[in-house]
Amino acid sequence: MNKKPFGLDIGATTIKLVWLSGEKNNFIYKSSLIVPTPLKGMLSESPMDEEQMAQTISKGVADAGITTKEVNVALAENQVYTKVVEMPILSDKELRSAIYWEAEQYIPVPLSNVTLAWSILKKPEKPTPLDKMQVLLVGAPIALVAKYQRIISMAGLNIKAMETEILSTVRSLIPNETFPPTFIISIGAISTSFAITRSGIMVFTYSMSMGGSAINRAIATDLNLTSAQAEEYKKAYGFSEKTLGGKIGKATEPILNSILSEVKKSLAFYTQKYKEDTPIRQIILSGGTAKLPGIGIFFANNSGIETAIANPWKNLASQSIPKEILDNGPDYTIAVGLAMRDYE
Ligand SMILES: Nc1ncnc2c1ncn2[C@@H]1O[C@H](COP(=O)(O)OP(=O)(O)OP(=O)(O)O)[C@@H](O)[C@H]1O
Ligand SMILES: [Mg+2]
Repeated sequence: MNKKPFGLDIGATTIKLVWLSGEKNNFIYKSSLIVPTPLKGMLSESPMDEEQMAQTISKGVADAGITTKEVNVALAENQVYTKVVEMPILSDKELRSAIYWEAEQYIPVPLSNVTLAWSILKKPEKPTPLDKMQVLLVGAPIALVAKYQRIISMAGLNIKAMETEILSTVRSLIPNETFPPTFIISIGAISTSFAITRSGIMVFTYSMSMGGSAINRAIATDLNLTSAQAEEYKKAYGFSEKTLGGKIGKATEPILNSILSEVKKSLAFYTQKYKEDTPIRQIILSGGTAKLPGIGIFFANNSGIETAIANPWKNLASQSIPKEILDNGPDYTIAVGLAMRDYE
């Protein structure tokens, strides 16, 4: 029996679908698919573009052989307001009212324009008066949520849950609370987000509007290429010093440096807050841009922290996953995390 929702990750350039079955700690791969996002994607306001998005999604569902109508979707970090806030231990009812005060501090737009959501990341079981709990505060623009709902229902599907991409990412990459402190960098086409996890719990998140498309633009400008050519060169050579006199790497470097500089700020924040208590042991790179040749070495060398490329399939018991899909792990991180969601 499989009535669990599938995961749907609508990116600026690609849409990913992942469907799992089984049970928690024993997931079984059922199917997955990646399709290109229609040109205007989620950015257009026109009903025709929304219709096209819906058609692309419903065709993807059919092509992937997904037979459930229930779906979990993720909102991109750069389209919502998120913050991990530390609060005293509160009951659900107390939290419900307290969260508004937090939101007023952190969300820079009128609260009447956003849907507020929160999830408790960590609440001690037997709290002492000094204990705190970590809560992820999310403010999603009402218009954005409505747009997702319209498109998904036009695609003949039902949204079971909506969360932010970083939560899905953490779920698929961080298996349990014994996992060492980790810095996740998720780089898509137009957005990049970070998460720091400690004892398996996210304690920090940040996002910026930067990604693979900016790399393409830089390569296209520096080498006088079309955007399609730049994409080809990027995938072939990446951040390598040797090819084409290092030109591709040189064009790419400023983008990676601007991500790196935010990573360093986040690391400094973490170190200051947690002292030498639990240093970050590894960086995990996710999202399509994590496949950039040489990107792992770039972050490892510049941060001094061991760096790995995300493999969201690692924690799946079933090994019946096609090789091509295994090899492109970083693409699927968010969709896998979404598909894992309702097993908790
Ligand atoms: N082998 C590769 N080397 C370098 N970059 C790659 C490679 N494969 C894909 N990319 C880049 O990854 C990006 C797409 O990644 P991903 O699918 O995670 O983004 P998205 O979800 O469409 O965008 P976003 O999350 O920003 O909305 C593109 O910029 C693409 O050029
Ligand atoms: Mg994405």
